[in-house]
Amino acid sequence: MDPRSEVLLRQAELFNGPLLFAGLPADDLLSHFPNAHGWSWHAGEYALLEARFSKRNHFGTQPSERDAHAAVVFLPKSRELTEYLLTVLAARLAGRELFLVGEKRAGIERAAKQLASFGQARKLDSARHCQLWQVRVEHTPVTPDLHSLARRYELNLPDGPLTVLSLPGVFSHGRLDVGSALLLEHLNDLPSGHILDFGCGAGVLGAALKRRYPDNQITLLDVDAFAVESSRLTLAANDLQANVISGDGIDAAPNGLSAILSNPPFHQGVHTHYQATEHLLRQARQHLTSKGELRLVANNFLKYPPLIEQHLGPCQTLADAKGFCIYRAIKD
Ligand SMILES: C[S@@+](CC[C@H](N)C(=O)[O-])C[C@H]1O[C@@H](n2cnc3c(N)ncnc32)[C@H](O)[C@@H]1O
Repeated sequence: MDPRSEVLLRQAELFNGPLLFAGLPADDLLSHFPNAHGWSWHAGEYALLEARFSKRNHFGTQPSERDAHAAVVFLPKSRELTEYLLTVLAARLAGRELFLVGEKRAGIERAAKQLASFGQARKLDSARHCQLWQVRVEHTPVTPDLHSLARRYELNLPDGPLTVLSLPGVFSHGRLDVGSALLLEHLNDLPSGHILDFGCGAGVLGAALKRRYPDNQITLLDVDAFAVESSRLTLAANDLQANVISGDGIDAAPNGLSAILSNPPFHQGVHTHYQATEHLLRQARQHLTSKGELRLVANNFLKYPPLIEQHLGPCQTLADAKGFCIYRAIKD
């Protein structure tokens, strides 16, 4: 059981009525609270939760319309996402209770200060390296317009300016990542057909691909609903059409791809994860056509080339700069 869920179980008598858990971990928590439902924006956690607690979960960037007398926010990594989640929920909870739970190392103490704009916040519990905070919503905010929270920046690409929009919590919010910038310089000579931007974030690579290869079908995939929504905004802002899908890992991608392009994930929350990327390297072959290409950027300390060679074919380093490498492998 996630330690944050354990802290909630210590205070179970507080959570009797219809309740919303926002950003809940994919553990057993819902079995202890029959009146609770979950709101998830991580496609993998949502799928796990739905498999165990059918029709008790909602996936997306907005909470469902379901009635809740109280809500618990599981502290996400991003301060701006925390602000959005707390505000959108407080707007529905006038005179009711809003809770925030999180690990100390994730910054719960500091994040709890964000509750002060709704009323007098109190710390209810501290255990398992986590804290649980509560506020009764006395100052009800206006429901935030998510799209107005997008940050916008312009890139001067060789084929013209590209506008990028990113929502709170999305990777490299409001600026171009150094690795992605390097990959943008190495988009030439991709095989034509259907190209996937795996882990699309705000959609910068997928949008640049569509601009560069307009006759190709482009699919953008991300596990995070805020990333998927950002990618849609980025494509629309540049008048580009592509498929944007939410899903957990390469298994959610279509087959018959001529190329997979990625700045793949290697951090998640406060923990470091490589599983999604290692799984991508192992499974890329199943999704690529013959002579299909995998091209990715990675920190040069990450040991991906042996895995790529083991599962796909000879790995070529197209560039090595600013701590990042661009790798390319063609399905043999
Ligand atoms: C390093 S970021 C790159 C984002 C974007 N392509 C860019 O260049 O700015 C990696 C992205 O992978 C996504 N991601 C993490 N785990 C994933 C998974 N299991 N399946 C699909 N996408 C995932 C993250 O949400 C994040 O947007």
